[in-house]
Amino acid sequence: MKNNQPIGIFDSGVGGLSVLQHIHQLLPHEHILYVADSGHAPYGCKDDTFVEQRSRVITEHLIKQGAKAIVIACNTATASIIETFRDQYGIPFIGVEPGIKPAIAISKNANIGIMATTATLSSTRYSELTQRFGDNVNLHNQACPGLADLVEAGLLDAPETIQLLQNYLQALKEKNVDTIVLGCTHYSFLSTQIRQIVGRSTQLIDTSYAIAEQLARVLEQENLTNQSRHGSIEYFTTGSIDNTQAAISSLLGYKVAISCL
Ligand code: DGL
Repeated sequence: MKNNQPIGIFDSGVGGLSVLQHIHQLLPHEHILYVADSGHAPYGCKDDTFVEQRSRVITEHLIKQGAKAIVIACNTATASIIETFRDQYGIPFIGVEPGIKPAIAISKNANIGIMATTATLSSTRYSELTQRFGDNVNLHNQACPGLADLVEAGLLDAPETIQLLQNYLQALKEKNVDTIVLGCTHYSFLSTQIRQIVGRSTQLIDTSYAIAEQLARVLEQENLTNQSRHGSIEYFTTGSIDNTQAAISSLLGYKVAISCL
């Protein structure tokens, strides 16, 4: 494995861009291949077999392109497949999972809300996570069907997005949560809208920066960090190029070139 080989990142769609941005900032010399599986999004309402199958197709494609490490920038896919893939493919995998531990560290009243997909919240990995850390706190799970689709469509401020957020957040407000975990990478793009509804006194936990730091640590340990040239990002989608491009422009504020996968 050579240091100048790319890092692969994938998500069900554009949500993983929240992780990608931090990775690019922290590791500016790395060449990154980002795959948005927008043609098959969302993952959060699908079963494990579907998520595994899609993740496998993308992982094998990234490995063929020379990926030296893969970031699964999707809580749903991480929950479903990361252990299996670590055993099956001979490269490092870095995943994302709801930031329960940092939420517990920061919460004052021990009432924590977790916004995530239905699949993440019902996974074995998530229940193990809550068993490991959730002893002396109240964890209030809030599945958010439909929310990732609206981010996928770039509709951050649309009335239907605000209405859906209000419904989900009302349920958490009733539980008196003082900390909310953004347990889906798509929701990072809604942090301003969430803040407007819950107010400044509620803490939001987003682990995307921590994932970038974890990747940097793993590359360092494995002697795989690239320092020799300027980094770059290539974007791929399994969905419509026009739609993915429009969503990315609305999320990042600039246009990027995208290829079909
Ligand atoms: N962005 C993904 C996650 O973090 C999946 C959202 C979806 O496709 O439902 O869970």
